[in-house]
Amino acid sequence: MDTIPMSDTSHRTATVGSVLTRPPAEPDVAERTPLPDPAERDIVFELAGVEVRYSGVTAIEDVNLKVAAREITAFIGPSGCGKTTVLRTLNRLHDITAGAQVRGTITYHGEDLYGPRVDVAEVRRRIGMVFQKPNPFPKSIHDNVAYGPRINGRKRGEIGDLVEEALRKAALFDEVKDKLKQSALGLSGGQQQRLCIARALAVEPDVILMDEPCSALDPIATARIEDLMQELKANYTLVIVTHNMQQAARASDRTAFFTAEIDDAGRRVGRLIEFDDTEQLFTQPSDSRTEGYITGRFG
Ligand SMILES: Nc1ncnc2c1ncn2[C@@H]1O[C@H](COP(=O)(O)OP(=O)(O)OP(=O)(O)O)[C@@H](O)[C@H]1O
Ligand SMILES: [Mg+2]
Repeated sequence: MDTIPMSDTSHRTATVGSVLTRPPAEPDVAERTPLPDPAERDIVFELAGVEVRYSGVTAIEDVNLKVAAREITAFIGPSGCGKTTVLRTLNRLHDITAGAQVRGTITYHGEDLYGPRVDVAEVRRRIGMVFQKPNPFPKSIHDNVAYGPRINGRKRGEIGDLVEEALRKAALFDEVKDKLKQSALGLSGGQQQRLCIARALAVEPDVILMDEPCSALDPIATARIEDLMQELKANYTLVIVTHNMQQAARASDRTAFFTAEIDDAGRRVGRLIEFDDTEQLFTQPSDSRTEGYITGRFG
């Protein structure tokens, strides 16, 4: 399965690039570099020497990893080790976090994700996010899914079909087809989470990031989302954060284990300890810290 040199560590020596905050000025739409076609390359994200600081305090540093296309990559590790922080670098959500600073290099299909000419709205359309707590808008089921396509200027006549298609892809259509005009807030937690996935799918993304998407759900709803992830990976690249090691082991192709350690200067900083094929990481971890975590000795 693995033809991609994920263990390549040559990039670890890459020098840290410029401070990657919001570009100083939004260039004209016509000048923006179009993002490359998702089908062009097999590596979707490559992180080299990535560091995130909050108000000058380093939360994670020296993160180097590659996310391959149409796979499920899982981030695991103890609370506070920086899983969410790394995930949020992948669609520039830190741009809207006061005091957050991203350093290092993150490429998306080979292009600098933080380049000054990159259109952030396009980044968020291509790279969708599903959060821990289902967060449907206080609108109808239909309007939740139609929201993105409408903003993106899709024609009125197209919206109904787009909504149905996204709900079908999110394995929700049959359960809601007779109540599309009802409030999304009346759905169960698991249905709301699938609605949020449908909302992300409706804008035709390339990647879906999920931050503990099942942690508020019961085992049956969790199993449905896990099944759905397996279906989605035929066409999308998924990066999931999970506290549930069984979920990472069952659902993902590759796993990144993070932990936070106190460094020589007494700072508590999150680091990527091991990144490997999921089966390998769970059966023969190469680092004793990974082994300690997956066997429950710490974390
Ligand atoms: N907005 C923020 N401002 C300041 N510090 C933050 C912010 N978000 C996260 N941090 C800090 O960054 C570190 C990593 O946090 P992060 O939320 O990424 O961890 P996590 O691995 O996702 O944890 P959990 O499993 O509890 O969700 C923590 O020390 C946290 O306190
Ligand atoms: Mg988190």
